[in-house]
Amino acid sequence: MRVGCPKEIKNHEYRVGMTPGSVREYVSHGHEVLIESGAGAGIGADDNAYHAAGARIVKTAEEVFAKSDMIVKVKEPQPNEWVQLREDQILYTYLHLAPDPDQTKGLLASGVTAIAYETVTDDRGGLPLLAPMSEVAGRLAIQAGATALQKANGGRGVLLGGVPGVLPGKVAVIGGGVVGLHAAKMAVGLGADVTIIDRSIPRLRQLDDIFNGRVHTRYSTVEALEDECFSADVVVGAVLIPGAAAPKLVTREMLSGMKKGAVLVDVAIDQGGCFETSHATTHAQPTYEVDGIIHYCVANMPGAVPVTSAHALNNATLHYGLQLADKGLKALVDDPHLRNGLNVHKGKITNRAVAESLGYEMAEPKAVLAA
Ligand SMILES: NC(=O)c1ccc[n+]([C@@H]2O[C@H](COP(=O)([O-])OP(=O)(O)OC[C@H]3O[C@@H](n4cnc5c(N)ncnc54)[C@H](O)[C@@H]3O)[C@@H](O)[C@H]2O)c1
Repeated sequence: MRVGCPKEIKNHEYRVGMTPGSVREYVSHGHEVLIESGAGAGIGADDNAYHAAGARIVKTAEEVFAKSDMIVKVKEPQPNEWVQLREDQILYTYLHLAPDPDQTKGLLASGVTAIAYETVTDDRGGLPLLAPMSEVAGRLAIQAGATALQKANGGRGVLLGGVPGVLPGKVAVIGGGVVGLHAAKMAVGLGADVTIIDRSIPRLRQLDDIFNGRVHTRYSTVEALEDECFSADVVVGAVLIPGAAAPKLVTREMLSGMKKGAVLVDVAIDQGGCFETSHATTHAQPTYEVDGIIHYCVANMPGAVPVTSAHALNNATLHYGLQLADKGLKALVDDPHLRNGLNVHKGKITNRAVAESLGYEMAEPKAVLAA
């Protein structure tokens, strides 16, 4: 198969869908790899590194889209990329379609077979291609929150770790999954007073064991959310209902009960956000203020640390990418976990949560692949 990787064009996105290390693996499986010139510049991998790994360097993204059977990317395709996709092509990337009706229409119109990293599953009920970026975003969330909390940046002026004789700052983490765990680890590392809120009691038990009493855990109710948000210096939004738009757990009304200059870091913004007042921001202008509360809502947080992120992402995506390159659509027929990643196929939505969020009829993946 001919596999292509264009340069990412989303604002301040420096990651790349294929590292030179991944290229070597595809080439060793007998595939041809096209890389847009400069695609790896953000992670310090120049064209020579890709050439040495066995890739063919092409000048433009247009050439990559026109000549490849499968496109491997990081972020969802942008409008000028949708129009270059076509029916006999596989798109393998993050999509986050539920909050994005325009992109959904674009992909449906193209006829492409689009596999979303974020809905591929594993045997343990996890999301193995979302997890590495959730680890990065969770860890970054505390760095972002701590920075925004500084007075000069509009925050309350609290040091999360406190100092001897002064209480530490309070961090509330809503959603104790992968993002939540890693945010809590960083917040604990800084010496903050940390509470994790989740609606899964088994998960709260696990977190209690992991942190050995060093964090508080709370079951997610409106009362718990209000208590924790009202006393927090930093609130991290990290909930997920796979494939669906994030539930709005913190309303605008609740902001009035919070401390002025407190910070909301809405990591779940890529699924629409879990704070009512969230709207997506970019690394160029990551924060804004509503009712005295600082909001940080960057939809591609891992893009800020592309070297770490691109390698972590490639570690996770390579296995399934090779399956797709080796077997084409049969890889989706053979592996139910990869099939769960199928969001769009030949003009139909094949993911239930996406279909329900956007009001489309869902087509069964098995049936559309057999057709
Ligand atoms: N902004 C970014 O750059 C970025 C990067 C990576 C991940 N994300 C996003 O972060 C979010 C979390 O990802 P994850 O990998 O941690 O997911 P996850 O599935 O590991 O964890 C989600 C957690 O939310 C909990 N939850 C669901 N509904 C809840 C509720 N009402 N109250 C409290 N908890 C609730 C679940 O029980 C689960 O433990 C996702 O939307 C993901 O797409 C964003």
